[in-house]
Amino acid sequence: MTTTQPTRRPDDATRDELVAAGAVVHAGSDSAREWWRDAVIYQVYPRSFADADGDGIGDLPGVTSKLGHLASLGIDALWLSPFYRSPQRDAGYDVADYRDVDPLFGTLDDFDELLAGAHARGIRVIVDLVPNHTSDQHVWFAEALAAAPGSPARARYVFRDGRGPGGDEPPNNWQSIFGGPAWTRLTDPDGTPGQWYLHLFDSTQPDLDWTHPEVRAEFADVLRFWLDRGVDGFRVDVAHGLVKADGLPDWDGHVEMVAGAGDGTADETTGDVEPGAPEDGSTGAGNQGPMFDQDGVHEVYREWHQVLDECDGDRCLVAEAWVEPLSRLARYVRPDEMHQAFNFSFLTTGWDAAALRRVVAASYRANDEVGAPTTWVLSNHDVVRHPSRLGLADPGVRPNGVFATDPQPDEELGLRRARAATLLMLGMPGSAYLYQGEELGLPEHTALPAEVRQDPAFFRTEGAEAGRDGCRVPLPWAADAPGYGFGPTGETWLPQPASFARYAADVQDGVAGSTLELYRAALATRRAEGLGHGGLAWLDAWAGSADVVAYRNRDVVVLANLGTEPVVLPAGTEVLLSSGPVATDRSADPQVRVPADTTVWLRA
Ligand code: NOJ
Repeated sequence: MTTTQPTRRPDDATRDELVAAGAVVHAGSDSAREWWRDAVIYQVYPRSFADADGDGIGDLPGVTSKLGHLASLGIDALWLSPFYRSPQRDAGYDVADYRDVDPLFGTLDDFDELLAGAHARGIRVIVDLVPNHTSDQHVWFAEALAAAPGSPARARYVFRDGRGPGGDEPPNNWQSIFGGPAWTRLTDPDGTPGQWYLHLFDSTQPDLDWTHPEVRAEFADVLRFWLDRGVDGFRVDVAHGLVKADGLPDWDGHVEMVAGAGDGTADETTGDVEPGAPEDGSTGAGNQGPMFDQDGVHEVYREWHQVLDECDGDRCLVAEAWVEPLSRLARYVRPDEMHQAFNFSFLTTGWDAAALRRVVAASYRANDEVGAPTTWVLSNHDVVRHPSRLGLADPGVRPNGVFATDPQPDEELGLRRARAATLLMLGMPGSAYLYQGEELGLPEHTALPAEVRQDPAFFRTEGAEAGRDGCRVPLPWAADAPGYGFGPTGETWLPQPASFARYAADVQDGVAGSTLELYRAALATRRAEGLGHGGLAWLDAWAGSADVVAYRNRDVVVLANLGTEPVVLPAGTEVLLSSGPVATDRSADPQVRVPADTTVWLRA
């Protein structure tokens, strides 16, 4: 076990030493074979993006009206969170009809218009697929309720008799991800208690039985429905949960390191090892237990891969799979399965240079093994927005939302780090996912009162967890308009914090140094320099540093200062882009000082 130390202090290094690339972590290529390999994909959460009809809930025409904003950002694709018919008990992740648009969001014609408008601007569109569970309002569940135990209609879901006298105990001890038991008991038509059904999430989201051929056939058909309409791919919800272990065994629920995590040897790529830290980039983000990551799920994705192959063009599947270690997650992106998987190990790594180097190296190691691109992501609709997460006293902590009574994030520090984290991410080869509003630097809303909260996780934990509403607040488009320009009436389905006036798109547009302009510049430079399909090599000078992450990708050096002191770069380094102010006036100061919590992109 060896730890690489710089031979000289970095601030004594010459320019050449500074930019000398060391260990190659990932080899680049001249171009990406398929569009998704290096794409920047922007997540639209339709209910909170833009409201065209004024009911306070965002909709598809609202998204279409903002395609200009998305084009000017320079993204390659959109991912639309669910807009299907749904009673909205989990904000649309409870689907009642997989082939129709919920009237809240518009119509199929509105969808076609959005798709055509995006394609006309060169923006691809990925839609969400929710195969683990349906809504309890889905016709199949209605049929199951009306049918007898043991009937074909019940076989599409996971119905079981209860345990103990009278079957009064749930069939096993599994808990819902949202809190409380993962089983709900039916009341039969004669008023007597009946069978139980499984729901890993809310009781209105019954799990499907993926061993059932009709379930398999139905979803292959749903894929074809949207592929025929012209979508470019699917984000697959709970991709690691479809198949449960045979016999649905009890599970003691202890979160343990995933089997196979860390082999106890030094990381050969970085030489960077901290005692007790996992070598594989795991952060504890992987879901454990007999309901997740069963081998049977891979058969489903092999079948779907073939369905996509029937179509022209490069269509893709991206797995939402909270699976660790990364080598285990890579099984979802083997050449005949999905194309990408979200990198939640990266998202859940704290503000720690050594931990970031470990997770980056482990990500490339695992994905290069199977020939899949890595993905990078810092925020989405399920986690505290990264400007707020990184402003917490311990940025490695991952709360399920933040209450007004909790210790509050440091907004200024969080935003500075978030911008630095974003530049660190966007400089790396692979595909990157952005969550709507992060281009504005939006913080989490941490002061939502209980009476406006809507996340089932808040209710199922009886208010113990704030849940995810704080990252789902309607976007501010115009500082001086009612509802910050979210829609024509000022109505918003969740209240917006007063601070959104400072973050509104119109006050950042064209303003040098704004977060919006930083994102635009980063995406333009990333494209111009071919960083998405480049390679990554650590810079030797900082290979063992506790405070700096530095790498080369093609002709660009990326250096992130996570420490508290400025990093001084020698004269002769040209700053292409920086996440915060750096002194670059060489006539006054031949050195470049990269302040704390700042990332720079250098020509070197
Ligand atoms: C993951 C989705 O991202 C989340 O929002 C949803 O609540 C669960 N899956 C259940 O569908």
